[in-house]
Amino acid sequence: MNNRTKIRELYMKLYHNETALNELFECMDSYKSLRSKDLLLMDKNQKNWYFGQDIVGMTLYTDLFAGNLKKLSQKIDYFNDLGITFLHLMPLLKPRDGENDGGYAVEDYRNIDPRLGSIDDFTKLLKDLRKHDIKVCIDYVINHVAKEHVWAKEALNHDKLKQDYFIMYDTDEMPNRFNRTVPEVLPDKCPGNFTYYPEIKKYVFTSFSDFQWDLNFQNPYVFNGMTDNLLYLANLGVNMIRLDAIPFMWKQVDTTCRNLEPIHDLLKMFNLIKEDVCPSLALLGEAIVEPQEIVKYFGNESDPECEVMYNANLMVDIYNAFASRDVRLITIDANRFQIPHRGTWMNYVRCHDDIGWGFNEQAIKSFGFDPYLHKQFLIKFYGNEHPGSFSKGEMYQFNPLTRDARTNGTLASLLGLEKAIESKQDYRRYESIRRINLAHALILTYRGFPLIYSGDEIASLNDQSYKLDPDKMREGRWVHRPFFDWKRSKNKDLMGTVEYDVYQNLKKLIDIRKKLPFLQGQANQYALDLNNMSVLGLIRQIKTQTFFALFNFSEHTQWVKTDHLRQLFNGVIAIDLIQGRQFNLNDETIELSPYEFVWCIKDKNQ
Ligand code: GLC
Repeated sequence: MNNRTKIRELYMKLYHNETALNELFECMDSYKSLRSKDLLLMDKNQKNWYFGQDIVGMTLYTDLFAGNLKKLSQKIDYFNDLGITFLHLMPLLKPRDGENDGGYAVEDYRNIDPRLGSIDDFTKLLKDLRKHDIKVCIDYVINHVAKEHVWAKEALNHDKLKQDYFIMYDTDEMPNRFNRTVPEVLPDKCPGNFTYYPEIKKYVFTSFSDFQWDLNFQNPYVFNGMTDNLLYLANLGVNMIRLDAIPFMWKQVDTTCRNLEPIHDLLKMFNLIKEDVCPSLALLGEAIVEPQEIVKYFGNESDPECEVMYNANLMVDIYNAFASRDVRLITIDANRFQIPHRGTWMNYVRCHDDIGWGFNEQAIKSFGFDPYLHKQFLIKFYGNEHPGSFSKGEMYQFNPLTRDARTNGTLASLLGLEKAIESKQDYRRYESIRRINLAHALILTYRGFPLIYSGDEIASLNDQSYKLDPDKMREGRWVHRPFFDWKRSKNKDLMGTVEYDVYQNLKKLIDIRKKLPFLQGQANQYALDLNNMSVLGLIRQIKTQTFFALFNFSEHTQWVKTDHLRQLFNGVIAIDLIQGRQFNLNDETIELSPYEFVWCIKDKNQ
């Protein structure tokens, strides 16, 4: 079946609307004919680029990092120095004025936020980055638009057709019914999932805030309109598009309105459409939901959805392992799901969002823990309420009834640097640096490609200054979205500083990763039970060759037995590529110092 036949099948199943389908095909044809020479070349030569072990990402806010798009072009040396080959630029399309959820309330998908520059500045930046082999991903806020977006404005102006682009009701009967089963995303900011608009006397579905209106994807013209925007953005020359908040894209009364089946059909269509029009473009899915739901957004071998997914589960498991000194959750989860050969993870330890503590409850129960109490432990450990914790994170969206909460904070503050500096205890500072370095090493090892959160490479700490900004003060996530400290970043070349220790470690790992085919996105991976709760063993394999990595998640020296490693390694002497350690697997154990990690391959000389 060719792409268009498949699209037709899915479209008719959801929408039963031939006229709208033909309009969609016309739209695709027109963007296809507009694809420039450069981009056609990319389409020909750059399929599946995201599997490369040379892909190392960084995510950043253009304004906080460089000021604007023109100035970002001048920072390419910085990316080259560290070895960054992929940039996720945080929302840069024109947002509404005032509070805008960090750019996730878009007023105009065809224009750049004027504070950052113009479309021309952006395409110029893309060209500059392309010359340096740096790929670019941008956000596409697909679930909702700002209430200042033209569709919402027309709806507010009593345009019935446009009101159908959203989910709105005359009375509170349906909203109340929805609210019985739909959990609140941000109970502080948007209690009850709906906002009443007196000017049209309607209750509007607003999952995230009163100013972000959820789109009605049951309407084919919403699908068509959002496809049109997507292809417009693709034709600017980006390599990846991040589809924001996909689990929310379909609403049905009496359900949780999360992860509903038709969303998978929508994503299959988006994938088929971009394969038809701009095949070098990759789709990145953002679905911060239960692990078993996240993997579904890859689709399957024959019907792909998003090629790349945020590995939210790994992030949670990493923090869990640091707090509990127990890696079993990472081990179980690494072996739990088969992802399609065409899919890969984007691995990260921090991003612009809070950490929601969704983990594999079954596994936690199998360790003899109560999932609710364990979650409470993590909330307190990272929310600065657990005596003895190294962490200085902050609680977010605390619910006094359930005591549920999420966590904010930068990587360095969460992993102990801020407290260590305050306590003036050098050994604690040393420990926290080792934790940060280990976390970075793990996201560089795990199947997929790593995404460094800008500022983490120089161990940025929490920043409270957002509380003085009226457009930010209501939103605790700004604590880990500081302005990039260029002055402090100079220390990255100054031996003996924290910045040096974190940056240079990362740089070295990136450099090694790029030469290691074992870390290619499709190389086989599994986690090994090493009979030591604090040490994670990850195996990567190509054909008959094996690579292993060990990570000690505790502040104590650990010993791991070599018997399992010996069996699967085709040699006796293993060489650690990071520090040059040599291990003889005929020895009974390997010793790892506090928070030590190693990357081992077979010694060529045996
Ligand atoms: C995504 C973004 C988050 C935003 C939300 C609503 O989860 O990462 O920052 O608040 O979508 O657009």
